[in-house]
Order: sequence, then C-alpha cells, then structure tokens
Amino acid sequence: MKVLVTGAGGFLGQAVVRACTAAGHEVVAMIRPMGRDPFAAPVTVVRGDLRQVGPWRTQLDGVEAVIHCAAATGGTWRRSSQGPSPQRKTCLR
Ligand SMILES: NC(=O)c1ccc[n+]([C@@H]2O[C@H](COP(=O)([O-])OP(=O)(O)OC[C@H]3O[C@@H](n4cnc5c(N)ncnc54)[C@H](OP(=O)(O)O)[C@@H]3O)[C@@H](O)[C@H]2O)c1
Repeated sequence: MKVLVTGAGGFLGQAVVRACTAAGHEVVAMIRPMGRDPFAAPVTVVRGDLRQVGPWRTQLDGVEAVIHCAAATGGTWRRSSQGPSPQRKTCLR
C-alpha cells in the first residue's frame, strides 16, 4: 500500500516511516520545506506545509492511506492548527 506519513521528520513520524517500510509499504514522507530529511530510498520525500495546499499536493497521486503525525509540539499549536481546512480537504480527496 502507498502510504503518506505527515510529520515524517518528527519523533513519531520517523518511527512510523520505519515501521511502514519494514512492513513492505511504499512510503511518501512529508517534511516541511526547511525540515531535515533523515530518509534514504526507497522513501519518497515531499516537501510542504499542511497549512497550505501547495505543489506537494500533486505528488500524492496513488496514496491510499494517510498516517497523520504532524503537530506543532513546541508551543506553537495555534499556528499549526490555523489551517485544518485545506489539510482536511486534501485528505478527503
Ligand atoms: N512522541 C510521543 O511519544 C507521542 C506519543 C503519542 C502521541 N504523540 C502525538 O503525535 C504527534 C507527533 O508527536 P511527535 O513527538 O512526533 O512531535 P514532533 O517530533 O514535534 O514532530 C511533529 C512533526 O510535525 C511537523 N509539522 C508541524 N507543523 C507542520 C505543518 N504545518 N505542516 C507539516 N508538518 C508540520 C514538524 O515539522 P518541523 O520539524 O519542521 O517542525 C515535525 O516534524 C503529536 O500530536 C503528539 O501529541 C506523540
């Protein structure tokens, strides 16, 4: 299965990416534009911010499941949660 993991560069996201690849899934790892990319092939990295529906959206063709690990855990939850609408719309498409 082709799986999108949001927050893939985070603590939980990295573990989820590892578990998914170990289980044989094709993983698309979403990392913010300036975030560190800790992954190697076969993980596909897409860069984007969930608060904005941007070019990253076009890289999600064929994704069958979304594991949503992105969160603002450093006290900036308000900034991260201001844009749930485009994020939810994208997941629903
Ligand atoms: N850690 C645990 O043990 C644990 C246990 C149970 C549940 N959880 C929950 O799991 C979630 C993630 O926790 P975590 O410990 O993995 O946190 P984390 O290490 O801070 O990872 C969160 C990730 O989300 C990304 N992110 C934040 N805002 C984003 C946005 N607008 N668009 C795209 N990506 C965004 C961050 O990117 P940047 O690196 O660029 O900021 C980061 O990579 C939280 O909701 C937490 O409550 C965690």
